[in-house]
Amino acid sequence: MPARASPAHRHPPGLYVLFFTELWERYSFYSMMAILTLYMDEVLHFDAARIGRVYGGYIGGVYLLPLVGGLLADRVLGFYRAVLVGGALMLLGHLVLAVESLPFFYTALVLLAAGSGLLKPNVSTIVGNLYHDRPELRDAGFNLFYLGINLGALISPISVAWLRAHYGWSMAFGSAALAMALSLACFIGGRRYLGHAADRVQPEAPDQAALSPDEARLRVTTLLAMFGIVAVFWLAFYQNGFTLTFWARDNTVTPFAPETFQSVEPLGVIVFSGAFVGLWAWLGRRGLEPSTPVKILFGILLVATAFGVMAVAGLAGGDAGRVSMNWIVGAYLLIALGEVCLSPMGLSLVNRVAPPRSRGMMMGAWFVGLSAGGYFSGVLGAYWGTMPHSRFFFLVVGVLLGAAGLLALLMPRLNRVLRQAQRADTA
Ligand code: PHE
Repeated sequence: MPARASPAHRHPPGLYVLFFTELWERYSFYSMMAILTLYMDEVLHFDAARIGRVYGGYIGGVYLLPLVGGLLADRVLGFYRAVLVGGALMLLGHLVLAVESLPFFYTALVLLAAGSGLLKPNVSTIVGNLYHDRPELRDAGFNLFYLGINLGALISPISVAWLRAHYGWSMAFGSAALAMALSLACFIGGRRYLGHAADRVQPEAPDQAALSPDEARLRVTTLLAMFGIVAVFWLAFYQNGFTLTFWARDNTVTPFAPETFQSVEPLGVIVFSGAFVGLWAWLGRRGLEPSTPVKILFGILLVATAFGVMAVAGLAGGDAGRVSMNWIVGAYLLIALGEVCLSPMGLSLVNRVAPPRSRGMMMGAWFVGLSAGGYFSGVLGAYWGTMPHSRFFFLVVGVLLGAAGLLALLMPRLNRVLRQAQRADTA
């Protein structure tokens, strides 16, 4: 198969197909993060509580449905068709959204969530599958894939802000329909490079086929516990499209449209990922590289620091005033550092540790963690209007520190399970 034909040190060409498929899909998602809450506030005149419900419900849906999407791909559709149908639903969703009327608005959100549910987790699973005969390249592959994600996330807020300013909300929302058309074109055009990686159930490596039921159960429960904790990271992360964007609009001195600040975080991720790959390798050569779960803990602590910075920014501006935009830029860069520690590693960890037959489903479960986090980001954000901003941000810090504590308790078990999985992988 073409997917297996490339030289040992090179990435399979299928990676680049998925890179662009996901880049344009992320344009779509981050266009929603950029202006969905602003639209509800400025055009639909929803109050903060209702905005929180819809925003949280939307992200919650986007990341809850991957569980179904992963399962459907594992058992029925296969990864290729799942991505195809998902992309088509998203394209349709964006067209419906551009209509600008309330029933269409809600219908569009449902279509978008259902579409991502089919597309996003399965694209990630195919990435992992491309590397089953070359596990040593897999982390590097996910890092490249993550670059595509962040390029999409970087251009989206800037482009949407520009379109919104010059042509209005419909064009801004509608640009994501074009993005999804591009995403689908890349995926369909590149199908032959995906080979068996996009098929239904993967040919299993003999050692993994021999996984005992107890071992499989241990792996699954450990992963699930970790996902629950990581949800809190996402609760903080998804303040980006909500309270942090309102903060940018109402509490910073800036010539830029509020949603453009959302580009800072993916830019940070792009810049820092390379540095971190180098840093981990450097530490690795000295036998000092932290395990994936420890990196995840760092990620949570870094985001706690970011919200600490925002809390101080709130105090500095007397909570209602405007302050320098350096505060929010600094906070986004810290969030980026946290994401670099936590998220690419997380995806790779799922692919490595999940029992092979449940790979799609466990990828879906990782997304359920995101879903819960996204949902509660809206629930928490609903208090934006009812308490001083500094107190709101301190609240986020407190929740993150609680999660960090729990993760520290779970650490020995996580490391043990991971070591076992690694031994099986390289056996
Ligand atoms: N920035 C990442 C993205 O949008 C965050 C994320 C990671 C979301 C993993 C889902 C899964 O893709």
